[in-house]
Amino acid sequence: MSGLSAKAEAIKERLKEIRRRLHEHPELSHEEYETTASIERWLSEAGIRIADYGLKTGVIAEVGGLNGGPVVAVRADIDALPIQEETGLPFASKLAGKMHACGHDFHTAAVLGTAFLLKERERELQGTVRFLFQPAEEKAKGARELIDSGALKGVRAVFGMHNKPDLPVGTVGVKSGPVMAAADGFVVEVLGRGTHAAVPEAGIDPIVTAAHIITALQSVVSRNVGALESAVISVTRLHAGSAWNVIGEKAVFDGTIRTFSEEVRIKVRDRFEQVVRSVAAAFGAEARIKWLEGPPAVVNDAKWAAAAARAASELGLTAVEPAPSPAGEDFAFYLKETEGVFVFMGTDGPHEWHHPAFDLDEAALPAAAAFFASLAEDALKDINNKGEQL
Ligand code: NI
Repeated sequence: MSGLSAKAEAIKERLKEIRRRLHEHPELSHEEYETTASIERWLSEAGIRIADYGLKTGVIAEVGGLNGGPVVAVRADIDALPIQEETGLPFASKLAGKMHACGHDFHTAAVLGTAFLLKERERELQGTVRFLFQPAEEKAKGARELIDSGALKGVRAVFGMHNKPDLPVGTVGVKSGPVMAAADGFVVEVLGRGTHAAVPEAGIDPIVTAAHIITALQSVVSRNVGALESAVISVTRLHAGSAWNVIGEKAVFDGTIRTFSEEVRIKVRDRFEQVVRSVAAAFGAEARIKWLEGPPAVVNDAKWAAAAARAASELGLTAVEPAPSPAGEDFAFYLKETEGVFVFMGTDGPHEWHHPAFDLDEAALPAAAAFFASLAEDALKDINNKGEQL
């Protein structure tokens, strides 16, 4: 066991305590006030400096840089979800209808662990490690806000993770290229003309039109996206009508599109617009499309993916190549600004993310803490020693 692993094991109980405390007090996106105060307290108690970027929620902290050097960043998201917890755990959420059902409590505790571990090695660090405790990931807003605050300025590489229930503890999912999807939303209004239900020929039926549009949209993924590419279009809501004997004026449906490359993202969006407008026109209706642009795909740099795999094996963890996840993740915005890698940390849980009985194995806490400490420390060394040759 490397020195870092042993040190991480030694703070395991402390990290469990922190994770449980966060788990009991989940806060939704942009409401993470108590969480912010707690993170600041834990960092201050460890003598770690907090940097002021004018954030309402979220914390930026730094370790190292005593002798100058480059800056790398480690990011943890801190927000919870509007879900009623059903785990029955002794440290279950104390707040009705709110839950850390995506394990961001785990991310926060583990990255605090990384800060604690690196604080002890501060003198040897060949640069600065900046910690981004980011709010509002679930709304895909926090990463942008942090970038706008200047927190990513000068950062040469950024590292982040998501826990992964289907990977065992001791494994790290590392992959070059796309690992999480672009997650865009749409709202489509189909405008027809109202009439008596018994006299449809006097109107334009928005329900029949919407039904045809939704059916035609199923052909976009199957007929316009190549077999080796992938995309998802899901219509998740459809609202229309007000009475059994009236044909209304309007039908509204919304949903999401997931893609893993900008090329496919643009193609699917173009086809979506053509299908919606043309099918509506064929029925004499009009369609209005509102796009809710989400984060782009998370696309890892090959050299940092290799560095992550190396950091994992140095600690005795197993790097495995994971399947990309069709979920979205606003870490993608950081990778548009600078280089870096986003990994999946094996947490061996019973349920997928966002499930009311979501849980994870806390044995993964020290592994994750040590992993990011090792990755950040090595990254600073590599940037110093090899510059662009890394
Ligand atoms: Ni999440």
